[in-house]
Amino acid sequence: MHLTLGIILAIIGSLMLTSVTGVDPNNFKTCEQSSFCRRSRKIQSSGSKYAIIPGTLNTYADSLTADLINKENHHQFTFKLEALVGSTFRLQIDEKQPLHPRYRVEHALKEEPKTARISVQKETDGEITISTDDHKNKAVIHGDPFRIDFYENDVLVVTANAKNWLYFEHLRQKPADAADGHADGEAGAGNAAADDDQQQAEAPKSPGEAIDDPGAWEENFKSHHDSKPNGPEAVALDFSFPEAEVLFGIPEHADNFVLRSTSGTDPYRLYNLDVFEYIVESKMALYGSVPVLYGHGPRRTAGVYWQNVAETWVDIYTAETNVVSSLVNFVSGSRKSPSPAAHFISESGIVDAFIVLGPKPIDVFKQYAALTGTHPLPQLFSLGYHQSRWNYNDERDVASVSSKFDEYDIPMDTMWLDIEYTDGKRYFTWDKFKFPEPLTMVKNLTELGRHLVVIIDPHVKRDTGYFFHNDCTERGYYVKTRDGNDYEGWCWPGSSSYPDFFNPVVRDYYAGQYALSKFNTVSENTMIWNDMNEPSVFNGPEVTAPKDLVHYGNWEHRDVHNLYGHMHLMGTFDGLEKRDPNQRPFILTRAHFAGSQRYAAIWTGDNTAEWSHLQHSIKMCLTEAVAGFSFCGADVGGFFGNPDSELLERWYQTATFLPFFRGHAHIDTKRREPWLFPERTRLVIRDALLKRYSYLPLWYTSFYELELKNEPVIRPLLTHYPADKECFAIDNQLLVQDRLLVRPVMQQGVSKVDVYFPAIDDKKNGDYWYDVDTYQRQERAGYESVPVTEYKIPVWQRGGSILPKKERQRRASTLMLHDPYTLIVCLDRQGKAEGTLYLDDEKSYDYRQGQYIYVNYEFAHNQLTNRFIGKPKYKSSSWIERVVIAGLSTVPQSATITVNGVSQQLEVLQQDHAVIVRKPGIKMNVDFAIKLNY
Ligand code: NOJ
Repeated sequence: MHLTLGIILAIIGSLMLTSVTGVDPNNFKTCEQSSFCRRSRKIQSSGSKYAIIPGTLNTYADSLTADLINKENHHQFTFKLEALVGSTFRLQIDEKQPLHPRYRVEHALKEEPKTARISVQKETDGEITISTDDHKNKAVIHGDPFRIDFYENDVLVVTANAKNWLYFEHLRQKPADAADGHADGEAGAGNAAADDDQQQAEAPKSPGEAIDDPGAWEENFKSHHDSKPNGPEAVALDFSFPEAEVLFGIPEHADNFVLRSTSGTDPYRLYNLDVFEYIVESKMALYGSVPVLYGHGPRRTAGVYWQNVAETWVDIYTAETNVVSSLVNFVSGSRKSPSPAAHFISESGIVDAFIVLGPKPIDVFKQYAALTGTHPLPQLFSLGYHQSRWNYNDERDVASVSSKFDEYDIPMDTMWLDIEYTDGKRYFTWDKFKFPEPLTMVKNLTELGRHLVVIIDPHVKRDTGYFFHNDCTERGYYVKTRDGNDYEGWCWPGSSSYPDFFNPVVRDYYAGQYALSKFNTVSENTMIWNDMNEPSVFNGPEVTAPKDLVHYGNWEHRDVHNLYGHMHLMGTFDGLEKRDPNQRPFILTRAHFAGSQRYAAIWTGDNTAEWSHLQHSIKMCLTEAVAGFSFCGADVGGFFGNPDSELLERWYQTATFLPFFRGHAHIDTKRREPWLFPERTRLVIRDALLKRYSYLPLWYTSFYELELKNEPVIRPLLTHYPADKECFAIDNQLLVQDRLLVRPVMQQGVSKVDVYFPAIDDKKNGDYWYDVDTYQRQERAGYESVPVTEYKIPVWQRGGSILPKKERQRRASTLMLHDPYTLIVCLDRQGKAEGTLYLDDEKSYDYRQGQYIYVNYEFAHNQLTNRFIGKPKYKSSSWIERVVIAGLSTVPQSATITVNGVSQQLEVLQQDHAVIVRKPGIKMNVDFAIKLNY
């Protein structure tokens, strides 16, 4: 690929631009411009005709199979329905005799799911009912038209193919006259194979063989030509959710938590893309694709994981869509409006859908996580604050930023280096002028208790003086063009090629590059940022790789696109684990697919310094969290543009209660370290960061419980208040586990915010909620207008919960390891509370050998006690220095602590609306009881 200098400068110029204008949607396809999407969507008006072929049904111990026929073109398919442990069914449909095998996704699932036994309950002529042995889950398979109803405890929660929108394009021989040059779409000048002509690539071989679409056998977009050697091969299926009122999931989109109807708009798109200056309230694709979708109603929650890594579009049918049908129902007196539904449309692959049956929100999140995994317990430092920008210029800059944090007494754990640290964007190398002694720089940070993260992108500079490029070239490690050459695209280094991470040998080679014997200019504590791994190709179609490239196993890029970043991460994760087998890796990734959470944290990419983007940081991370990515954050301050003081302050405060917390900015933005702003801003930011650090024990415990129990760290309100309809669409508030309710200030110039306190029953009773700053109690459910100052982050702790904090101020979290704990006990209406604390060495894998302390605290009858979960083996030098109790009706005179039968009096003080039991001084691994004396 040879580009003129002019084009190159234009590309780079547009990428460097910082005046914030917003994406040009014309650079990305609409459904109408994507031939498989428009074809599959057409089925919505005609419906399809698939049926089980009588006599082909077979049942086994854990599954059922049958042949399906498309009654219009007579093509045959096999379908398999498996019951899985954990209230899940798996539905697979493939061609019975495909022309060649169709791609089946690998590496997304954590492991091969365990199947569950089934038995046939009923079999009639056109219908068979199977049920799991515990009789909790049932599927009714209808033969003609083909449809499957899924029941949880006899309640219908999901129907597959309710609307008859199953659409499966079988592989076919290319018709003789569907030759090159008859593609649809714009054709670029100088592209020999392309043609503006809207002629059709028709010519049926036999009835039903034709795909009547000009883009069936080749397609153009802008100046790009897609040769589509396999022709049409789309798969699509609809799922409806009879018990649901809202649908949510399918990140990544800069949109509300609750999915909006796509009637009259494009569907939501899942196609990993590097979208420049993305806009909010948009269904456009972004960097990650996680095709899991949930339907939620007051009684039930269920979900579908559509396991397909090709480009995918999802149409959403909700009450909004159904206004007309609702009117018809109203007029006709029918009470029931059509169920919310989703129509998944993928360009290739097979139908491979997992149906998770709930019944509660937390159940579906866990059922989905049981399939694709969770983020393993991260090192504690990675939950602290990260300081990044594109770029810290040189070693002096890094040292000076780090020391300014100390000078202003602001905690910070990690400094980040973006692409400019490298020697000409050759990853695994350093710019020797700006960074002559990286190891000394790393050592200096380590001595302060801090870490360094460096960026490593997947593109490789095509430079014969670069070892990495030479290795990849000589060994044939690059992704190939259709004619077998190394694909060349354009990215930060200029002309670049892309390692084929689908090849296990390439992954292994790549992992080896992280070894300290190779990348010897960093230490085993230096962690990694994998960016641009959609992959981003500046001169490629839609800024990514052409679909007709060829990967390991001879799969087209079209088949595997959304998994490329995931395969990159697998290599990196393996590399870091091999580099230091007893240290937990920290990786940040931009591209992601279902399952990538097992390897990396994510952030929401190149956002903008605008209030609307701040608001979307919560919406987007909530959606990611329920799709497995709890470790999520957004560039604090906004990547593009320059935040004013107020926006920056509010952004830090909001990020204090999101799991991944990093300040980052574009190279052309003004420097924005906290001390460069007026004193008040610096102090507000410091205050937010101190709060963050005080809650680190809660974040850490939450991440342990994510690994242990598959329960998201941050959660939408509906998770714990599933019957309160007011909660369903709330996405400017979040819960940290079920312990904190967070409603950050995300509007300009406000002196109060409206907060919704969820109801626990029909009578609008709510939990007690205690303001974490004053312990003032909120007793009523419903909206409250809460006054805020510039320092205020509106956060409440739930009555009935206990949470751990550390309240000593340090420069970095690593220096807090031995610090004492404070327990915050907030009482419910019965005067009770409970909550857990998890602790270990915060860094190694020793916890997997039992080196941890996991404890449950309980407060009842005026007494606080503990109970260890598992043996408290880890030797901690921390202790409990304070217990704060909120919600007592009278102040006790003193307290008595009893350890091993020995009792001692403790002092009790009143502060604000709480009581403080001073200095219990208990080690973390002993049993105790603290009794309040009246
Ligand atoms: C794109 C990333 O999204 C951004 O965070 C980074 O600064 C630039 N690439 C440069 O590496």
